[in-house]
Amino acid sequence: MSRRLLIAGNWKMNGSPGQLDFFQNLRAAIGEVAAELLICPPFPLIPGAIDAATGTGIAIGAQDCHAAVSGAHTGDVSASLLAELGVTHVILGHSERRSDHGETSQQVCAKAERALAAGLIPIVCVGESLEERRSGSAEAVVAKQVDVSVPKASGVVIAYEPVWAIGSGLTAELEDITAMHALIRSRVEQGEDLQILYGGSVKPANARDILALSEVDGALIGGASLTVQSLGEVIKNTSN
Ligand code: PGA
Repeated sequence: MSRRLLIAGNWKMNGSPGQLDFFQNLRAAIGEVAAELLICPPFPLIPGAIDAATGTGIAIGAQDCHAAVSGAHTGDVSASLLAELGVTHVILGHSERRSDHGETSQQVCAKAERALAAGLIPIVCVGESLEERRSGSAEAVVAKQVDVSVPKASGVVIAYEPVWAIGSGLTAELEDITAMHALIRSRVEQGEDLQILYGGSVKPANARDILALSEVDGALIGGASLTVQSLGEVIKNTSN
């Protein structure tokens, strides 16, 4: 089957209301592309981003949601509110959430189930640390994360993001990306239909090689998604 490429930008704790011309500018810079495009800004920018992205074909995602339907959870945001606003995807279990907020794979799975119930597509992140890669346990760690974090349901996207490659300028070797994506696919029912993104220092200089791998169905991009120029160049690298 032909691959459906998803290029997702994770703005993390960056961006401001003054920068929402990003969407029209990106559309103008890239022209027609086959890949699905998604930007995940911080929560307060979501309504403005949805307005600003109207007509561009760029979908808007979130960076987290709560596992509960609603209630007394100060500072948290529900999946159903995100869906009502027009959000399509939600990143869950990013390594920065796992480390900054102590999120466990069980909690990530509960959030992903809630997101699915609300009609959102969860992008569940997994990936090993540098020590785990060096000690030869990367495959076992990622397999366990997939087994526990990913709901047994269709409609989930997985992002393989080696923690040591995030924001570091280092990227995994192409063979290691292929091997890990194949391992992830083998552990998920309906693996054939599963979109698996690679993330970790994807940038214009390496995007073409990574996105050409047959096991890679797209990219989750942090730093290089913050400017129209760099994200535009990454996206153009998907089109031939
Ligand atoms: P990076 O971040 O592209 O800046 O490495 C990727 C991510 O954390 O999703």
